[in-house]
Amino acid sequence: MKKQTCDFEVIYNISLNDDYFLLKLLAEDELPNIFPAQFVEVRIDGAPNTFLRRPISVHDVNYNKNTISLLVRIAGEGTAQLSKINKGNLLNLVFPLGNSFSMPDNDNILLVGGGCGVAPMLYTAKYFMNFGFTPTLLLGYKDKESILRSDKFAKYGNVFYATEDGSFGEEGNVLNHSLLNTGEISFDKIYACGPQPMLKALGDMAIKKNIECEVSLENLMACGIGACLCCVQDTVDGHKCVCTEGPVFNVKKIVW
Ligand SMILES: Cc1cc2nc3c(=O)[nH]c(=O)nc-3n(C[C@H](O)[C@H](O)[C@H](O)COP(=O)(O)OP(=O)(O)OC[C@H]3O[C@@H](n4cnc5c(N)ncnc54)[C@H](O)[C@@H]3O)c2cc1C
Ligand code: FES
Repeated sequence: MKKQTCDFEVIYNISLNDDYFLLKLLAEDELPNIFPAQFVEVRIDGAPNTFLRRPISVHDVNYNKNTISLLVRIAGEGTAQLSKINKGNLLNLVFPLGNSFSMPDNDNILLVGGGCGVAPMLYTAKYFMNFGFTPTLLLGYKDKESILRSDKFAKYGNVFYATEDGSFGEEGNVLNHSLLNTGEISFDKIYACGPQPMLKALGDMAIKKNIECEVSLENLMACGIGACLCCVQDTVDGHKCVCTEGPVFNVKKIVW
């Protein structure tokens, strides 16, 4: 699909907690089809050291209102600057970028998100639900206070939580959760996004249990167009650029 460079108008910028904010953006032109796990490259204006665009997953899309939403963690200078953008300002995006999660065959699917990897899982769940599938979601957070948009996620599937301190859902990380550790429960396919150690452990578990598993990688990116090789992932088919050939890979293909 052809990528576009467009100015979006900021409809709102809401701070969700000390670390995360939510942007709703209105497109000038009609939005193209956007698929789950695709991302945008955001131009950050006003941050002197942030020359390169920053990759952010599509968190939600509303085709009726012609808007997309981004759920962003303040990680460094670029995202800190972005967190200050105001209603009515323009934000320049290159989108839609990357490949996407494949369609499931049935409802027996698990969507796993950890850290800012929860961001693409809302649109993924919504997209699958629009095709008649009701996913199970497993979302991992530090504690109850850091849980994001629980009401929204609840609309698009059966949601389970793991918190590191056990203040909500089950104690521990997503890998410790009973959904993945009880013999009676098994899924036909797992879709995941989150920190690399989580994806690797989940992928190893899926391979061992013979469950199909696709992961969306968040490797560091610079150019975003396949030129600098800074996002390269080693795979059984050789080196792949996550920006142009990902971010989604079947775990069986990844050489961690
Ligand atoms: C395909 C893709 C989708 C993403 N989706 C989201 C999203 O939906 N929401 C969100 O909050 N973030 C997302 N990220 C991560 C986001 O791009 C980075 O956090 C952001 O670029 C950091 O920019 P910065 O200028 O604030 O920080 P920098 O000053 O560039 O970096 C600050 C710190 O964050 C680390 N960092 C930078 N990029 C990444 C990364 N990709 N992964 C892990 N650590 C990183 C740096 O090593 C450094 O320690 C995504 C990344 C990719 C590749
Ligand atoms: S970010 Fe430069 S090749 Fe992917």
